[in-house]
Amino acid sequence: MAAACLICTLNFQSLQCCHLLLRITIMFVARQGLQALSKALPSTTSYLQKRSLAAMSVGNKFDLPDRYRGSEKSVWVEYIQLAQETQPLNLGQGFPDFAAPDHVTKSLAEACTGENVLLNQYTRGFGHLRLVKALSQLYSKVIGRSIDPATEVLVTAGAYEALFATIMGHTGPGDEVIIIEPFFDCYEPMVRSAGGTPKFIPLKLVKSGPGPISSGDWKLDVNQLSSMFNSKTKSIIVNTPHNPIGKVFTQEELTVIADLCKKWNVLCISDEVYEWMVYKPFKHIRMATLPGMWERTITIGSAGKTFSVTGWKTGWAYGPAELMKNPMTVHQNCVYTCTTPVQEAVARGFEFEMSRMDSPECYFYSLAEELLPKRDFMAKFLSEVGMVPTVPEGGYFMIADWTPLANKVDLSQEKDKYRDYKFTKWMSKNVKLQGIPPSAFYSEPNKHLIEDYVRYCFIKKDENLQKAAEILQKWKGSK
Ligand SMILES: Cc1ncc(COP(=O)(O)O)c(C=O)c1O
Repeated sequence: MAAACLICTLNFQSLQCCHLLLRITIMFVARQGLQALSKALPSTTSYLQKRSLAAMSVGNKFDLPDRYRGSEKSVWVEYIQLAQETQPLNLGQGFPDFAAPDHVTKSLAEACTGENVLLNQYTRGFGHLRLVKALSQLYSKVIGRSIDPATEVLVTAGAYEALFATIMGHTGPGDEVIIIEPFFDCYEPMVRSAGGTPKFIPLKLVKSGPGPISSGDWKLDVNQLSSMFNSKTKSIIVNTPHNPIGKVFTQEELTVIADLCKKWNVLCISDEVYEWMVYKPFKHIRMATLPGMWERTITIGSAGKTFSVTGWKTGWAYGPAELMKNPMTVHQNCVYTCTTPVQEAVARGFEFEMSRMDSPECYFYSLAEELLPKRDFMAKFLSEVGMVPTVPEGGYFMIADWTPLANKVDLSQEKDKYRDYKFTKWMSKNVKLQGIPPSAFYSEPNKHLIEDYVRYCFIKKDENLQKAAEILQKWKGSK
């Protein structure tokens, strides 16, 4: 029997293993299992095959480790698969279907094929020198303080890894992490797998005044938030501009959060990947610029979002050296170093855009200008078919209440637990338009709060948004 004693870990055959009773019990259970298995298997299965199958079925050696339990399902995996099967017009996942700025993609081609062949080799682990320098220059300017490229900036495999390294590096058993709902879905499994306990607070729709619903109508309940802070609170994750609501947190809201962080000595993880996608008159306020917050904030950014190259999966975290040491340690023992030519190209992209930051042509501003009519067009066509959109102040997603169209869908065959999953799947299959179910961005007890909504992405070519409008109009007009 190829097994070991649970207590002394010695092989059962070893004469030194003295836990006789345990040995006998385990051998007995294993033998019973083997006998039961023998009956179930065809008589041609050899004794040795049966024995090894029995050994596999004894215990749960290859089960998913506890720290990942509950995070097996991913809305992205499921909906990318659904899109492959149903071939809809896909307004689900958040990526542009148009070209990135020329200078950025050309820089990548040049980096790979240019004279400096070393740009195809490993680079500095915490970030390619040219990129950390560019990032420190940019953020020193917009934050209004000097950021050290060597110790205060970390380049990662997308903002995703920046979040992972920051959460892992600053969360341990017993730590509580406050997460505002809805939230980018990876926050919760990352906190849990680090041993922390997520504490959720949902934004509440409080419509003020006439006109369309704005993302600003989704409010943070300040009293509820303050009651959640305590001595176990380690960090709070804030996402502004927000995915999926599009909320751009105001100075007042950020100040409330900042004051609580200072009062309870809490780290703020500020996910600002949509920092440049803000629609006038709204303004993105960086948490690290609030008084006393640089010292306790790690800010997350994404080249994928900034330069419309989501497939490049390059992101970063920046903050004070004291706080950056931990995510750097996680990164060094996990990814260690990111793709060199991509980092080189992103660095050149930043250098170019920084040289024209005073011009409206700078991509940091021109992308938002380009997105604004797309946002308005989507809000219009969703309203025209009877949905109730929340008009975003930032980001490139729009949620909409689909229930005024409930009598046009037949969800009876859809097996999912939540109505937004049923609706989005039914739409993909029958209407050929795909959105994302926003309950994916809520904790289990709160998923019911958002079942009436769907999330669409509007960073798409005008012709594709036009097609989406036509698909919906045709569907609305059908019996
Ligand atoms: C709020 C938020 N944070 C982080 C990310 C991850 O960004 P990246 O693609 O750079 O990993 C996303 C991607 O959609 C996002 O929406």
